[in-house]
Amino acid sequence: MPITWSDQYATGVPQVDHQHQTLFDAVNKLEQQIADGTGVAELPETMAFLKSYVQNHFTYEEMCMSRGQCAATEANKEAHKKFWEGVLSFEKRLQQEGPSEQLLVDLYNVSSKWLVGHICKIDVHLRACAAKLTNAA
Ligand SMILES: [Fe+2]
Repeated sequence: MPITWSDQYATGVPQVDHQHQTLFDAVNKLEQQIADGTGVAELPETMAFLKSYVQNHFTYEEMCMSRGQCAATEANKEAHKKFWEGVLSFEKRLQQEGPSEQLLVDLYNVSSKWLVGHICKIDVHLRACAAKLTNAA
């Protein structure tokens, strides 16, 4: 089932919400590629995109939380660090094992579950400080 964007995921910071929607699209694309059989060939490209997009997104979101003195700032950094280690281990597997159906499915399962859970548990704390960010801009 594709992940559909809804208000429950909104942080109130437009740029962060936009980035999260792009990540939803990327995860949904992975699901589609598993279904139509094109994902394995695309894995190197998918991994490169995810790595660079996730890194930029984490940096931006951490900056917003820190500027807004959000209560979840440290918890968010910790969670990002952990997920980032997961991204690097997927990259390592890709280099060592080459692209495979199993790797594709594992990447999809881990990233789709993590993204939704992380946004709902941690990123939504941005709502409480989103107004501060707007005022500071
Ligand atoms: Fe986050």
